[in-house]
Amino acid sequence: MRNVTIFYFSGTGNTAYVANQIGSAFSGKDSICQLVPMENVLLKRTGIDLENTDYVGIGFPVHAMDAPDIVYRFVDLLPTGNFKFFIFKTAGDPMLNGGSSYHLREKLRIKAWKCIYDSLFVMPSNVGNNPNPEMIKHLALIAVKHASKMVTDILTGKIVNEPKSNIVGLFRLFGKLESKGAKKNSDRWRVNEDCIHCGKCVSNCPTKNITSEGTKLVFGKTCIWCFRCCFHCPTQAIMMSKMFDKMRIKPYNIERILEEPAIRSDFFEHATPQHYVRFRKHFQELGLMD
Ligand SMILES: Cc1cc2nc3c(=O)[nH]c(=O)nc-3n(C[C@H](O)[C@H](O)[C@H](O)COP(=O)(O)O)c2cc1C
Ligand code: SF4
Ligand code: SF4
Repeated sequence: MRNVTIFYFSGTGNTAYVANQIGSAFSGKDSICQLVPMENVLLKRTGIDLENTDYVGIGFPVHAMDAPDIVYRFVDLLPTGNFKFFIFKTAGDPMLNGGSSYHLREKLRIKAWKCIYDSLFVMPSNVGNNPNPEMIKHLALIAVKHASKMVTDILTGKIVNEPKSNIVGLFRLFGKLESKGAKKNSDRWRVNEDCIHCGKCVSNCPTKNITSEGTKLVFGKTCIWCFRCCFHCPTQAIMMSKMFDKMRIKPYNIERILEEPAIRSDFFEHATPQHYVRFRKHFQELGLMD
């Protein structure tokens, strides 16, 4: 019996979904797997206990070709030691392998951690164009296969690293600019009259960036642009700055889409736009599609 601990961050649910698939795949293969949201550690709701852990998973959504700031802050808290870890990152596009996890791996290498697997899971993009339900369903089903393959590879000792790229420094620069922008920009976010004061956004924000002042909600300067508040607001009352209002998408629920038989589950088999060629190529290279 092996012990696996997966630490993950997820803004709108994609990475949480993948973390669950990886957790189930380990549990089906004689392993005990616990899933820990990174914010629970950062907000001191739980500690880090890696005694008897055989493998540690680190999961996050790609933000501006890099890991979000919250992931770097979490990794700073990890102990030094001879731990084997794997990375799973989710991104809306396989282009340039979703950026790079090189800098994150370097941080862990300095702590004597050994990376045994690093893989990109393509999931619906939570910014930009609304992903259609067929696409969401197919991506979610491919992620199940991907998780199973990843776990089999890990347990059979196959080491997989992200493809080499000469522009990793640039990816880190994008990431840093994005996290600066998030802090500067979002204290201008507002809530409109549709707000029903349910308090969901306040309690769910992973950085405690939203506070209530009487009936007013105030956004501070610790935002990481994870979009959890907007995505889960029951009345869509959160008004982001102009730039983001253009990029916000309609919230979707992966589990509900999976349960809906009328939604086709073979989107990438028949999708025609040129844009999807690289998606198919990514899945074929991973052996997830013929
Ligand atoms: C601020 C921000 C930046 C993003 N940057 C990228 C990116 O550089 N490349 C990409 O493919 N997807 C990007 N995405 C899309 C997310 O990585 C993708 O939808 C991810 O699966 C979301 O995971 P989550 O639901 O766990 O938060 C970005 C999303 C946000 C909110
Ligand atoms: S989640 Fe939406 S409705 Fe609920 S308090 Fe926040 S803004 Fe208001
Ligand atoms: S304010 Fe919203 S987008 Fe910013 S960190 Fe909190 S939940 Fe995420």
